[in-house]
Amino acid sequence: MAGVFISFEGGEGCGKSTQIKRLAARLEKAGRKVVVTREPGGTMLGETIRHLLKHAREGHGMCAESELLLFSAARAQLVRSVIRPALAAGAVVLSDRFLDSTTVYQGLVRGLDPLMVATVHQMAVSECLPRLTVVMALPVKEGRKRLMKRVRPVGGENDRFEAEPDEFHQRVLDGFLQLAKVEPKRVKVVDASGTKDAVEQAIWRIVRRVV
Ligand code: TMP
Repeated sequence: MAGVFISFEGGEGCGKSTQIKRLAARLEKAGRKVVVTREPGGTMLGETIRHLLKHAREGHGMCAESELLLFSAARAQLVRSVIRPALAAGAVVLSDRFLDSTTVYQGLVRGLDPLMVATVHQMAVSECLPRLTVVMALPVKEGRKRLMKRVRPVGGENDRFEAEPDEFHQRVLDGFLQLAKVEPKRVKVVDASGTKDAVEQAIWRIVRRVV
């Protein structure tokens, strides 16, 4: 069976990881081999870069260009060590974020030149692109509420991105919705404000066409 690559995108607190777990369980039950990964992360190098990007003191004040290169370095490793081999083995790969996050956060919102972003994408992933991208759309205020309810480790605080103002997160959401208009075949929007079961059903209606 051919491998299928599906990515999940959206703002903070939109429920991607919960829904990815549910989808993975459903696919496995149906006999599919599933590989779940996340960005930044998914490899030892990627998880170290994730810490630098989100939490480390050394990352404070990082410029947008460094962000672009660090996210892309983590991605280059993930593509070669995890995603390509899994697809070659016929797995369904579910990634919590992928390159559209860079297009939106570092390109549209941080304002980096789209040509520069596209050039780095080409080097990091080349042809390894998702067959389907599910954007989970949730009003920014609702995402914030959900984040506040999340159980955090002792001393845990907002990461560098969560700490950005609502206006930043609104531009992120608008950016993803814009991508769905530009690439309607690949990028599908799901209303993430319903119950977990309702969102799961909405995602399944889209995913079952490609797996
Ligand atoms: P998350 O996995 O908890 O969503 O955290 C990842 C954070 O990093 C999130 O705020 C979005 C941000 N991000 C980017 O800015 N660019 C990227 O390319 C990726 C993958 C994530």
